[in-house]
Amino acid sequence: MRVGVLTGGGDCPGLNAVIRAVVRKGVTQHGLDFVGFRNGWRGPLEGETVPLDVPAVRGILPRGGTILGSSRTNPFTIEGGVERIRENLAKFEVDVLIAIGGEDTLGVATKLGELGVQVVGVPKTIDNDLNATDYTFGFDTAVNIATEAIDRLHTTAESHHRAVVVEVMGRHTGWIALHSGLAGGANVILIPEVPFDVEQVCDWIRSRFRTNYSPIVVVAEGAVPAAGTMALASGEVDAFGHVRLGGIGNQLAGEIETRTGEEARAVVLGHIQRGGTPTAFDRWLATRFGLHAIDAVADQAWGVMVALRGTEIVRVPLADATTTLKTVPLEKYEEAKVFFG
Ligand code: F6P
Repeated sequence: MRVGVLTGGGDCPGLNAVIRAVVRKGVTQHGLDFVGFRNGWRGPLEGETVPLDVPAVRGILPRGGTILGSSRTNPFTIEGGVERIRENLAKFEVDVLIAIGGEDTLGVATKLGELGVQVVGVPKTIDNDLNATDYTFGFDTAVNIATEAIDRLHTTAESHHRAVVVEVMGRHTGWIALHSGLAGGANVILIPEVPFDVEQVCDWIRSRFRTNYSPIVVVAEGAVPAAGTMALASGEVDAFGHVRLGGIGNQLAGEIETRTGEEARAVVLGHIQRGGTPTAFDRWLATRFGLHAIDAVADQAWGVMVALRGTEIVRVPLADATTTLKTVPLEKYEEAKVFFG
């Protein structure tokens, strides 16, 4: 059996660990043959491939990014896209596709699966917002990077008596903001799930300054002010219809300065959170996802995705990953509020 592998969507530390595990176990224990598709769904769409065998995956375990490349190409928005994928799978004699991706990539995999393409999914996203799995790899790395940044920003903020707003990733959900904010001792955490009142944020800032400490605000890029409290700039849209975010941190710092009279700076962590070597946890999770995904292929369990439940890796229907987003429950956010202000 010949297996095609692709990585789609935003890259994520741990992707290479999945590819390595899939190929190593696939070749040595299941006798499978592989081909790599380049740049997400663009690979099977355009017929862009790379050889994928045991030598090709040597030494990639600690490397960030993906040796296969990635893109946000959506074949369902391209005329004749699905037919072209079918033709290329036949041309390269690929029997099954392993799609490693988030909501969008696995959404495409789910639809292709419904159209008869043999697919197995592996969940990834630094945002940790995929339903049906307790954690996605990449999240732990992003949280560690953000926490280290917050630690560093505390000391420089204290020296200059400034407020610092740290903008982290999280388009729809505030998992990175919540976990790094708690770990880094932030004084305010703002997440997309709970629209914020800018005046309440300023009260927390003022109270922190009164105790002679400099406040750190951690804001998820998708956080929004409560209706009518603060105007927001809008951005461009990608192939899946997502707005390109990244602006709330600067806007909020401006509001804080104007309303409190205290100096406020914004730091946008951006793609630093997605780059570089994965943490040990992410390497462990990504490796186990890869091992279980290739077992699903060997069992011909099409249309499933591997997922973490507690410490076990299970198989769930692909559609479970994409039907609802895993948002931060209100009670988990409320728990953090004891540290606000
Ligand atoms: O979906 C993962 C993610 O990291 C989001 O948190 C963020 O909004 C987005 O990717 C950024 O994507 P891009 O690299 O395309 O700007």
